Amino acid sequence: MENSKINRRNFLAAGALVTSAAAVSGLGFTSGTNENNLKIHNSGIMPLAADRRKLGKLEVSALGLGCMSMASNSYNPPRPMADMVKVIRGAVDKGVTFFDAAEVYGPYRTEEIVGEALRPVRNKVVIASKMGFKFEDGKSVGRDSRPESIRKAVEGMLKRLQTDRIDLLYLHRVDPQVPIEDVAGTVSELIKEGKALHFGLSEASHENIRKAHRVCPVAALQNEYSLVERVHENKTLDLCQDLGIGFVPWCPVVRGFMADKFDEYSRFAPESRFPAIPYFSTEAIKNNMALLNLVRNWSEQKGITPVQFSLAWLLAQKPWIVPIPGTTKLHHLEENLGALAVKFTSAELQSFRTELEKIQLMGVRKPESASQDA
Ligand SMILES: NC(=O)c1ccc[n+]([C@@H]2O[C@H](COP(=O)([O-])OP(=O)(O)OC[C@H]3O[C@@H](n4cnc5c(N)ncnc54)[C@H](OP(=O)(O)O)[C@@H]3O)[C@@H](O)[C@H]2O)c1
Repeated sequence: MENSKINRRNFLAAGALVTSAAAVSGLGFTSGTNENNLKIHNSGIMPLAADRRKLGKLEVSALGLGCMSMASNSYNPPRPMADMVKVIRGAVDKGVTFFDAAEVYGPYRTEEIVGEALRPVRNKVVIASKMGFKFEDGKSVGRDSRPESIRKAVEGMLKRLQTDRIDLLYLHRVDPQVPIEDVAGTVSELIKEGKALHFGLSEASHENIRKAHRVCPVAALQNEYSLVERVHENKTLDLCQDLGIGFVPWCPVVRGFMADKFDEYSRFAPESRFPAIPYFSTEAIKNNMALLNLVRNWSEQKGITPVQFSLAWLLAQKPWIVPIPGTTKLHHLEENLGALAVKFTSAELQSFRTELEKIQLMGVRKPESASQDA
């Protein structure tokens, strides 16, 4: 408890530091007006997320906002649209320009929320969404990335997102029935038509990344990467570096674990995603506390929170890494953005890495999975 009090106080200090260091003009909502000159709300908070990074040729804020849990049953019940619109608009106020959705979140509901929230500032933000699943009776029933299905999916996505183009269109998962060149070719046509601006892949094999990139340049690879799940370090990151592909870590705060939310006594709702995740078994949580304790100690020394440490550490790995922590709460988003003010020396990174690699984690992916389609 005492720990969390200290962390909270220091986090606020870190937040104030970012505010003064990165105060830039707002993107749309703080001023009380937007592109259409409509009054939205007036939070009076200066933007925090002034840093920008490149995913291929696409410029985005250095931290994005993952919008999955706003509408899916992953970690919490779906949240009301009005509340989530406030969170997304609050993120815009704070300088976040990168918003992550997918057809399958909800399904469809996250895209509707993102579309509604960002409509007034559409030209100032980057919307990413993902296709590649098929749906029956409102449920995802497998993969489908046939060209005609991608085209149909994109028409629906554009409507729900209330836009005429998807800035970053990802293939969510590789469909083993469809050659990746056909997917890349279809996205390339959509780019020529202006319906998509950039192409992304998620959890694709190294071979498929190379094949796709030859047909249509891949701007971003969205894979799981965090202090707990580090299977994509080295080979996948090296591949991205070679091809000029940006890397977007999903689950960057380990679904709340790095926010000190869980312990071995945590019990999860059966309909949530947690029971199926190997590193959320009671045994794995108990074992992996060694990592959280290490991060707690380092965070205390640096006067930040464990979740800020986790995000800052990811940001420090490569200048083309853009984590997209998911949240349904504005105060969590503010805490997460505090990571942008955290700097590491190379000696600190090395010393932390040495301690990190001594910890045997449980419930993580096998090394050979790194180069394969998920
Ligand atoms: N490509 C893929 O296959 C794939 C898979 C999964 C996710 N994604 C994308 O990646 C995004 C991020 O991943 P994720 O949402 O699964 O995992 P995550 O970002 O690691 O964790 C999200 C969870 O952590 C909690 N959290 C975040 N910041 C917090 C803070 N400061 N303090 C306390 N709790 C905090 C959130 O709860 P609160 O709501 O209470 O803040 C939420 O339940 C998703 O939203 C989605 O857009 C992509």
